[in-house]
Amino acid sequence: MAEGDAELEARLAEQEAFEPSDDFVAQANVTDEGIYEEFEENWPECWDRAGDLLDWDSEYTQTLDDSNPPFYKWFSDGTLNASYNCIDRHIENGEKNRVAIKWEGELGDTRTYTYQDLYREVNEFAAALRDLGVEEDDVVTLYMPMVPELPIAMLACARLGAPHSVVFAGFSAEALATRMQSADSEYLVTCDGYYRRGDALDHLEKANEGLESVDHDTETVVVDRLGDAGHGHSLTENQYDYDELVAEQSGNRIEPVERGAEDMLFLMYTSGTTGQPKGVKHTTGGYLAYAAWTAHSVLDIEKEDTYWCAADIGWITGHSYIVYGPLALGTTTVMYEGTPDYPERDRLWELIEKYSVDIFYTAPTAIRAFMKWGSKFPESRDLSSLRLLGTVGEPINPRAWKWYYKHIGDEDCPVVDTWWQTETGGMMITTLPGIGTMKPGSAGPPLPGIDANIVDTNGEKVEAGRAGYLTVNKPWPGMLRTLYKNDERFINEYWAEYSDLDSDDADDWVYFPEDGAKIDDDDYITILGRVDDVINVSGHRLGTMEIESAIVGVEGVAEAAVVGGNHDVKGEAVYAYVILEDGYEGSDEMSQRIVEGVEDGIGPIARPEQVIFTPELPKTRSGKIMRRLLEEIANGEEELGDTTTLRNPEIVADIQQKVQK
Ligand code: PRX
Repeated sequence: MAEGDAELEARLAEQEAFEPSDDFVAQANVTDEGIYEEFEENWPECWDRAGDLLDWDSEYTQTLDDSNPPFYKWFSDGTLNASYNCIDRHIENGEKNRVAIKWEGELGDTRTYTYQDLYREVNEFAAALRDLGVEEDDVVTLYMPMVPELPIAMLACARLGAPHSVVFAGFSAEALATRMQSADSEYLVTCDGYYRRGDALDHLEKANEGLESVDHDTETVVVDRLGDAGHGHSLTENQYDYDELVAEQSGNRIEPVERGAEDMLFLMYTSGTTGQPKGVKHTTGGYLAYAAWTAHSVLDIEKEDTYWCAADIGWITGHSYIVYGPLALGTTTVMYEGTPDYPERDRLWELIEKYSVDIFYTAPTAIRAFMKWGSKFPESRDLSSLRLLGTVGEPINPRAWKWYYKHIGDEDCPVVDTWWQTETGGMMITTLPGIGTMKPGSAGPPLPGIDANIVDTNGEKVEAGRAGYLTVNKPWPGMLRTLYKNDERFINEYWAEYSDLDSDDADDWVYFPEDGAKIDDDDYITILGRVDDVINVSGHRLGTMEIESAIVGVEGVAEAAVVGGNHDVKGEAVYAYVILEDGYEGSDEMSQRIVEGVEDGIGPIARPEQVIFTPELPKTRSGKIMRRLLEEIANGEEELGDTTTLRNPEIVADIQQKVQK
C-alpha cells in the first residue's frame, strides 16, 4: 500500500458525506438551493436559463414543443450558429486575447490559441471546406487524435452548418469505414499521425485503409502533425494538406450560417446491443444550451478559469466538455495529446501545475490507475490552483472518490460524480458543487429540471435502497433527437420499454438509458451499471455484439460470446469465450489472431483480456447463451447462480478451470 493510504483509510473511511467548503460556495455559479423547486415549478420554461446562455440570431418564442413525443423540439423557432457562440461573440465582448485552447503534445511541444487565433483559423478552414464542396447539412467525418485542428475542424463545420461525425482515433479502419458509409459522409479530415508513449503512430495508413472500404468518392484533408517524424505517405488525388488549404484562404472569412435550433450540429456513433453502432443525432440549439448550462452549473466554469477535461474529443465527454460547453462560456480549455504516464506518472499533475488548472474532469479508470501508482506523484507537484474536481464515465467506488478528494483536491475541492451518456448530450445526475452534500459512490440527485426515477420492470417506483432501472420521465434540451435516419430504432432502443407508444401525450413517454440504479432516502442515485449487452472498459462503451462479430470474422472461429468481467483499473475487461471450428486448435497463436481480429474490427480498446477456448458455451434449453454465468465465471466467482436450466451444465466447471484469475 502506498504511503499515505493508511492514514487516508483511517480518517476518511468512515465518512459518508462531504460538504463543499465555504470558500468554494462563496464563489460558485449556482448556490441557491431553491433552484430545484424553481425548475420544477416553471417547467419547461425553466430551461430558458440554458437558452439564455446563448446568443440567438432570432430569439425563440417556444421553449419546448412536445406535441409529437418522443420527437421533442427545444427552442425550435430560434436560430443561431454554434461557431458564432463559441468564438465570435467572445471577441465582440472584448475577449479576443483570452486563451481559448492551450494544447500540449506528448513530447512537451505546446500551442496556444487565443479566441482571435481560433476565429482566424476556423474561418480559414471553413472557407477551405466550402471550396472543397462542403454544403450545409453535408456530414463531415473527423478521424483525428487530440490535435488543435480537431476542435478547429468541428467549429469550421458548425460555422458552415455541416454536421460533423467525429470517429475516435483509436478506432480501427473498419470502424471508420462503417461510420462513413452509414452517414453517407463524402468528406474526411484526418491526420498523418500522433504520439503515444513516445512513438509516432501512423494514423493516415489506417485512414487510407478505411477509405478503401467506403463505396463513394471522398475528399480528404490531412493534418500534418508529425512533420519529419511522419511516415512518408504522399497524398493521393483527392487528398489535401491542411496547412496548404488554410494558407490559401489566408484572411478569408465565412459568415456563420444561421441554423434552426433543431438543425443537426453533429452525429456521434455509439455502441448498442446489436452489432451496428447507433448514430446519435444532436442539435444546434438544445445541445449547445445544455452543454453550456451544465458546464456553468456543475463544472462551475467562469471565463477566467483554466479548465481541463482529460478525456478524448473522440467521445461525447470531449465534445460537450472540452469543446462546446467550455468554449460557449468563453473560458480556456486545455487539451493534452498523450497518455498520463509518459514520460512519467506525474504527467497530468505536471500539467495542472504548469497551467494552474482550476477545474479538472476525468474518469474513474484514470483515478484507479493513479491510486495504484501511489500518491507520491501528485504530492511532488503543486496542485493548489485546483478548485473543483469531476468524474464521468463509470461508477466510482468510494475509496477511489476519497483518494481523488484527498490526494488531488487536498480535501478542499468538491468532487462532482456526473452520470450521463452520449445520448443525453450532457450531465443528468450529479450534485451541484455549490449546493449539495457529496456522498462518495453515489452520483447525487438528478439535476434541476431532470425527472429521473428508479423503477421495477413494470415501471413502478422502487423503494429506497432497492435496485431497479433508471428512467427519465421528462425531456431535456440536450437529449438526442433520433438515431440518424432511423426513427424506428430510436423508439425501440430508448422508449419502447416503459412508454405507451400509441399515446400523443408526452407524460406517457419514458426514456430508458439501460442502466441499473438505486436511490436513497435523500433521492441520491447510485448507478449500478448497464443492464444491456454493453460493457464499460476504461470508461469506454463497447457493445459485446460488435466484439463478437469481429471475433467470428477470424478464420477458424465458429462461435463467440463476450462478456465484461471486473477489472481493478479498467472497471470492466473483455472476456471472450470462443468455440473453434473442427481442425483448429486453441493455441496462443489462435488467441493472438483473435486479439488482432478485434483490434482490426474495432480498435485496441476492445482487446480481450482473456480468450477462453471451449468446446461449448453454456446454453439454456431454448438455445440462449447464459451470459450471466459467463460473467460470474469471468469474475472468478466460485458460487455460481442457478445452472439447472442449462442443457449442458457439465461444461461450466470445464470453462471455470480455464479462466485465469
Ligand atoms: O453506464 C453508464 C456509464 O456510461 C454509460 C454511458 O456511456 P457513454 O455514452 O459512452 O458516455 C460516457 C460519458 C458520458 C452510462 O449508461 N456512466 C457514465 N457516467 C457514469 C456512469 N456510470 C456510473 N457513474 C457515472 N458517473
